[in-house]
Amino acid sequence: MKRPVAELVGTGRYVPDMVYDNAYFEQLVDTSDEWIRERTGILERHIASDDETLAVMGTRAAEQVLDDVGITALDLDGIVLGTATPDRLLPSTACDLQAELGARNAAAFDIAAACSSFLYSLSVAEGMVISGDFQNVLVVGGDRLSRITDYTDRATCILFGDGIGATLVRPVASGDRGLLSSYLKTDGTLANLLYRPGGGGNHPPDEKMLEERGYYIKMAGREVFKSAVKSMAEACDRALERAGVSAEEVDLLIPHQANIRIIEATAKHAGIPMEKVYVNIDRYGNTSAASIPIALDECVRCGRIVPGSLVLMVAFGGGFTWASALVRW
Ligand code: ACO
Repeated sequence: MKRPVAELVGTGRYVPDMVYDNAYFEQLVDTSDEWIRERTGILERHIASDDETLAVMGTRAAEQVLDDVGITALDLDGIVLGTATPDRLLPSTACDLQAELGARNAAAFDIAAACSSFLYSLSVAEGMVISGDFQNVLVVGGDRLSRITDYTDRATCILFGDGIGATLVRPVASGDRGLLSSYLKTDGTLANLLYRPGGGGNHPPDEKMLEERGYYIKMAGREVFKSAVKSMAEACDRALERAGVSAEEVDLLIPHQANIRIIEATAKHAGIPMEKVYVNIDRYGNTSAASIPIALDECVRCGRIVPGSLVLMVAFGGGFTWASALVRW
C-alpha cells in the first residue's frame, strides 16, 4: 500500500501596517536610499507595534487559513511554528498562538532554524501527517526581527522587517499533488557569522550584555552572502533531484527574501528565469521565517499559484541552516 503524502491547503499572512522606508534609515544611520536599493533591493519594511506580538499576528494569519480550508480551530491537531524571535522563551509561541486561536485539540511547539524555520517546520509537519497520527497541522513561519535589531548598526538594521505567514498540511492519498520532496541541511560550525549572543540561558541579561549590545543580531554580511548563494543553489538541486523533476518543469521559485542579489544568483544557478521567481523583498525586507509563507499566500491570492502549479521553495539562515521543498499545489 502506498503511504499518503502531505498536501498544503489554505494560506494566510499578517504584515503590520507601520512602514519604515529607506528615507527613515537615512535619518538614523550613515546610509542612503541608493545604497540600500542597489545592494539589497529593499524599499521598505513593515514593523510590528507593541500589541502585534508574534502570537497575535500568527492568529490573524491562521484564521485566514482556517477560513480558506473551511475548518475550525478545533479541527487542528497540530501547530508547528518556526521562528527565531519567540514572544518569550517559555512557553513556546506556538502555545500562545494555540490559546489565542482556541485550538485546544492541537499539540503545539516551535522550531528554531532562523530564516529556514518555515521549511524546517513544513518538513516536521509532513512527518506528522504521514505517520497517520495527525490530520490537520497548521504550519506557521514568522518573525519580529525589529525586536532584536540594533538600530545603530547600518549593516543590519536596514535589512529586517516583521511579519508572519501560515498554511495547513494534511495527508492525501498519494497522487500528483502535495509535497514531492524536501531537503534540510545545517552547518553549526558557522554559527558565529550570524547570531545573537544574549537572551538565552548561557548569556542571561546583565550589564555587560547590555553594554556590548549582545541582545541584538550580529552578522558578518559578506560571508553570509557567499554561503547563502552556495547553499540555496545546492538546496534547489537536491529538491529537484529527489523528486526527479527538471528545472524547466518548475512554474514558480519562491526563495527566502534576504537580498535581491542572492535571489538572482540562486535563480541563475537553478536555471530558472526571473519571470518565474517571486520577489517581494522591495516591500517587506528580510522577514526571516515569514518570507516564504507570506510570498506563498500572495502568490495563491493573486493567481500566480493555481491547482497543479509546481512550486520550488528555498531558504537560508542563521545556523547556518538551509532547506528546500518542492510542492505540486
Ligand atoms: N549603507 C551604506 N554603506 C553600508 C551599509 C549601509 N547600510 N552597510 C554596510 N555598508 C558599507 C560597509 O561598511 C562597507 O564599507 P567599507 O567598504 O568602507 O568597509 C561597504 O558598505 C561594503 O560592505 P559589505 O558588507 O561588503 O556590503 P555587501 O555588498 O556585502 O552588502 C549586505 C551588505 C546587504 C548585508 C549583504 O552582505 C547581505 O545581504 N548579506 C546577506 C544577509 C543575509 O542573507 N542574511 C540571511 C539570513 S538573516 C537571518 O537569518 C535572521
